Amino acid sequence: VTDLVQIDALTGPQTDQLCEFYRNEWWSSGREPDDVRIMLASSSVIVALAERESGRLVAFSRILTDFVFSGMVYDVIVAPEWRSRQIGRRLVEAIVTHPRLRLVQSLRLCCLPNMVPFYEKWGFQVIAGDLQWMMRSQRTAVEAG
Ligand SMILES: CC(C)(COP(=O)(O)OP(=O)(O)OC[C@H]1O[C@@H](n2cnc3c(N)ncnc32)[C@H](O)[C@@H]1OP(=O)(O)O)[C@@H](O)C(=O)NCCC(=O)NCCS
Repeated sequence: VTDLVQIDALTGPQTDQLCEFYRNEWWSSGREPDDVRIMLASSSVIVALAERESGRLVAFSRILTDFVFSGMVYDVIVAPEWRSRQIGRRLVEAIVTHPRLRLVQSLRLCCLPNMVPFYEKWGFQVIAGDLQWMMRSQRTAVEAG
């Protein structure tokens, strides 16, 4: 079994691998490498796993947080060739037990209904009631360039 290490920042090659992850997922396929670099520099906490020897990126996630009231978990992704080998479990466990997030009162995330049973393993619950997510598009991908 390949030895994995947890990392909190990405090297250049790992950033390229993250861009490859993003190209394959439905919510992130249009992300430009320059924007991804801004995102990495600006996220509160990066939780990722890499192969110890090769440094290859195996799993990624990131959190935006105020470190006390709330945190939002984004971009939970395991490399396709590593899926169904308990890596996602290791990644989410590393998020919910992260030392820098220990004071945060609640973590939130947004997912498709078929992912609910996955996150429920760690105590995430669907938010019941009349609260609605709202969104305003601020910038198109073209403007980003
Ligand atoms: C979702 C994802 C992160 C799971 O990672 P993974 O390494 O394949 O999952 P694991 O092998 O660690 O699975 C851990 C447990 O969750 C379960 N699980 C995995 N995917 C699941 C799903 N979609 N729904 C319900 N349970 C799931 C597994 O059966 C396993 O259960 P067990 O421990 O009781 O055997 C991975 O499939 C992925 O990157 N998918 C594409 C990106 C994505 O959709 N991310 C989520 C965005 S909200």
